[in-house]
Order: sequence, then structure tokens, then C-alpha cells
Amino acid sequence: MSNVEYRAEGAVGVVTINRPKALNALNSEVLNDLLAAFDGIDLQQVRAVILTGAGEKAFVAGADIGEMSTMTKEEGEAFGKTGNAVFRKIETFPVPVIAAINGFALGGGCELALSCDIRICSDNAVFGQPEVGLGITPGFGGTQRLARAISVSKAKEMLYTGKSVKADEAYRIGLVNSVYPQAELMEGAMKLAQTIARNAPIAVRQCKKAVNEGLDMDLEAGLALESKLFGDCFETLDQREGMSAFLEKRKGVQFVNG
Ligand code: CAA
Repeated sequence: MSNVEYRAEGAVGVVTINRPKALNALNSEVLNDLLAAFDGIDLQQVRAVILTGAGEKAFVAGADIGEMSTMTKEEGEAFGKTGNAVFRKIETFPVPVIAAINGFALGGGCELALSCDIRICSDNAVFGQPEVGLGITPGFGGTQRLARAISVSKAKEMLYTGKSVKADEAYRIGLVNSVYPQAELMEGAMKLAQTIARNAPIAVRQCKKAVNEGLDMDLEAGLALESKLFGDCFETLDQREGMSAFLEKRKGVQFVNG
């Protein structure tokens, strides 16, 4: 049985990691199921994705410590590469991915959240990179993405001490965009995803591409990329529709994803 569930609600896809007995910890099987879930998303229909964990306790409590405990150097490196490939798939997924963090997001769980475009969490969420306490470094992107997402100094403090931060501090340091009472988290995630999904889908995708790829370039190259992607929009039906609706003072813009 798959450890990852998928459902689509209109233009919003919801991916749920479902291994609550191990607090949704990521073993090789879960990583494969996560990859398969994203591979299976119909991008003609879905314009935004929510990623969450099953249960009320954990988003993901990390990579599976039992599985890692007997790994050799080569197996450890291969496991890291597998996780990184899955997370990179999510990071570069054509449509925005919102992490709805409903509890513990530790180690690989924090790293998974970091590979999403937008992070929101419930008030019981806890974030951390406790790997150094287990004798390892983060292996699914934590040393790279945490230092890019928050201040380098705060990222280093979290990485070196292994200490976790609660939802209110995660908000204060910019690790999450907003904090919800647990019962309202998914509704908040759905509203956010639907707001994104109502906009012109190609323009939203181009924004994601411009930000993600631009961050790895110098400003001149990033601006050149933006000009190209901006220009591409003028070949779309959605640009015609969006601007006509404005000029005709028409409500109910109908973007066709084309
Ligand atoms: N791997 C495997 N199993 C895990 C797990 C993990 N990362 N986290 C929790 N579990 C399992 C527990 O072993 C336990 O299983 P059993 O009931 O069979 O004993 C079950 O989930 C429930 O966990 P607890 O009883 O420990 O629950 P708790 O409420 O007392 O504590 C917790 C919750 C603080 C999250 C604690 O489970 C914990 O510290 N988990 C490990 C967190 C961690 O260190 N994560 C980093 C992993 S390393 C990593 O992720 C490397 C990387 O970057 C790739």
C-alpha cells in the first residue's frame, strides 16, 4: 500500500504523507511513493499543490532513523541523493507547492518543507535539524536551503545546536509565512492554493521559474530571464483574456491555461 495519498479538489492537488505510526518518517519506500505521487499529478487540471502529513502530530519527523542506522558510507550517500532528487522534483515542480506543516518538521521534514514554495504551519508545529545529535549532517538539502531561507547565522545556530524552534519563532525568523490553529490549517492552505489557482496558470508558473532560476544567477542574468518569460506571456490566450477583462471592466476572468 502506498505511504502517500493524493487527491485533487478542482484545480488544487493535495499530497498527504501517510505513515503516522512513524510520524511520517521518510524511508526509501515513502520517498519513492512521494515521487510517484508528484509524477502522477495532472498538470492540465492542477494549478497549485498542497503537501501535508497525516495525523495531528507530525508533518514529517525526519528521514527514517531505523533504515539509516545500518547504512554504509556508499548507502548513506545514495540515500541522500535519492532524497535530494525527490525534493528537487518538488522544488522545480511546474506549479507552486504549499507545505501545510501540521506538527513536527524535523530533519528531512524541515528539509521537505524548505523545498516547497510557500510554508504555512499549525500552532503545534516544531522545526529543527537535529541531525548532529545523531552523528550525521542533514542529507536532504538542509545545509543549503535553510541558509538560503532564513539568516545564515540563525540557520547555522539551528544546524550546529540541533535545537528546534516552535511555530511562533518559525514565523518570527521567516521560516513560515503564517501560523494557524491546527483545525484551520488545511482550510487556510486550501484558500491560499485556490487564490493562486484563480490566476493565469502560465504566468504563475513563469513567476516560479523566474524566482527559482533567478536566485542562482547574477542580477543581470536574472533580469534577462525575467524579460524572456515576460515576453512569452504575450503569446498566451490568458494574457489576452486577463487584459481584455480589465479593459472591459468585466468580472469573472476565465483563464484557460493556454
Ligand atoms: N525515523 C524513524 N522512526 C521515527 C522517526 C524517524 N525520524 N521519528 C519518529 N519515529 C517513530 C518512533 O520511533 C516511534 O515509533 P515506535 O512507536 O515504533 O517506537 C513513533 O515514530 C512515535 O515517535 P515517539 O514515540 O518518539 O514520539 P514522541 O512524541 O515521544 O516524540 C519526536 C516525537 C520528538 C518527533 C521524536 O519521535 C523524535 O525525536 N524523532 C526523531 C526526529 C529526528 O531526529 N529527525 C531527524 C532524522 S535524521 C534526518 O532526517 C537526516 C536527513 O536529513 C536526511
